[in-house]
Parts: sequence; C-alpha cells; structure tokens
Amino acid sequence: MKSMFETQRLRIREMQITDFNHLFALDTDPEVMKYISDGKPDSEEQVRATIKRVIARYEDWKVYGAWAAEIKETGEFIGWFSLKPLPGTLEIEVGYRLLKKHWGKGYATEGATKMIEYGFQTLSLQKIVAITHPGNEASQKVLEKVGLRKTGEVDYQSTPDASQIRVVWFEISPK
Ligand SMILES: CC(C)(COP(=O)(O)OP(=O)(O)OC[C@H]1O[C@@H](n2cnc3c(N)ncnc32)[C@H](O)[C@@H]1OP(=O)(O)O)[C@@H](O)C(=O)NCCC(=O)NCCS
Repeated sequence: MKSMFETQRLRIREMQITDFNHLFALDTDPEVMKYISDGKPDSEEQVRATIKRVIARYEDWKVYGAWAAEIKETGEFIGWFSLKPLPGTLEIEVGYRLLKKHWGKGYATEGATKMIEYGFQTLSLQKIVAITHPGNEASQKVLEKVGLRKTGEVDYQSTPDASQIRVVWFEISPK
C-alpha cells in the first residue's frame, strides 16, 4: 500500500480494494452525501464501481488521484483527499470527504492544505480550483481557511449529457 503524504496527524495513502468497507460507510451516509452531486447516498453497486475507478486512475493519471486518509497514531480510516482533473474543464480540483465522526477536528483543513502544497510545490501547477454546493458552508469554510478565493457562483456541467448544477467556484494560484 503506497503512502503518498504525511501531515501532522494524518497518513494519506493509495486506496486498495480492501477499502471497500471504508468507502461504503462514507458514500452511503445521507449526511455525508447531502451536498454531493444529486444529494443522495450511493448504492452498494455505485461504491463498488467507485473504488475500482479510483484504483484504476492511479495508473492512468500517475500524479493525480483520490487517496485514503488515516490517523497516523491509530491507523483509523477517516475519509479521503483528492487532487485531480475537474470533469468537463481543464482545471485541477482539490476535494475531500470525511466520515461524520471525524468532522470538526480540523482534519479537512489539514489534508486539503497538503493537497495544495503538493499541487504547487511538487507538480508546479499554476492554479487549483474547487467547487461546492452553495449550501455546503463547512466545505466553503475549509476552502477559505486553506487559502482558496471564492470567485462566485457558476453553472457547472461535468459532461455534455449531465444536468447543470449551480456551484460556488473557488480557486488559488501560487504566491
Ligand atoms: C466538509 C468537510 C470535509 C469538513 O470537514 P472537517 O474536518 O469538519 O473540517 P475542518 O474541521 O477542517 O473545518 C471545518 C470548518 O467549517 C466550520 N463549519 C462546520 N460546519 C459548518 C456549518 N454547517 N456552517 C458553517 N461553518 C461550519 C467549522 O467550524 C470549521 O471552521 P473553524 O475551524 O473556523 O471553526 C466534512 O464536513 C465532510 O466530509 N462533509 C461531507 C463531504 C463533503 O461535503 N465534501 C466536500 C464537497 S465540496
């Protein structure tokens, strides 16, 4: 299992097929999924497809991906962080999703900070973006704390066939 990043409290590593139970707990929780795509929890089938896709993309993308985060001290899975192409755009997006029991402890801020540092210092990106549902105040707070700037609301479409959704757009460029 390949370790990717370390923060003060977290180890961020590649996902494996054995993370299915972790991802299932995350993506079938209605509260976690409230502001993600259609706002509905995923089915078991969808979670199986997601974990396979996440793992396959390590090969496809090499430097981008979604990686599992665990507490260094205990090895407990808390969720994931990502830095990857934003579908339907030429942008690179930072993302995160944590199990509810681990909200409110600063983990999202800690992991997202590492994603930004990796994007700028290692990958030399010139811009990183993020989109959130307008109601997702916790996520918007995280993005602001990490240094992203809100540029406004836009209609976003991940593919030409997908329905348009209204999102808040954030971005950051290297200092
Ligand atoms: C968004 C999410 C990752 C935040 O994780 P977290 O570890 O609790 O975030 P942090 O503790 O680093 O910071 C959260 C900040 O938002 C604030 N916050 C939390 N809930 C809030 C709410 N409902 N309204 C406004 N602010 C809120 C916290 O007070 C904290 O700010 P502070 O440090 O100034 O007090 C977590 O709620 C989550 O996984 N949600 C479900 C998935 C999701 O929405 N992902 C993002 C998609 S864009």
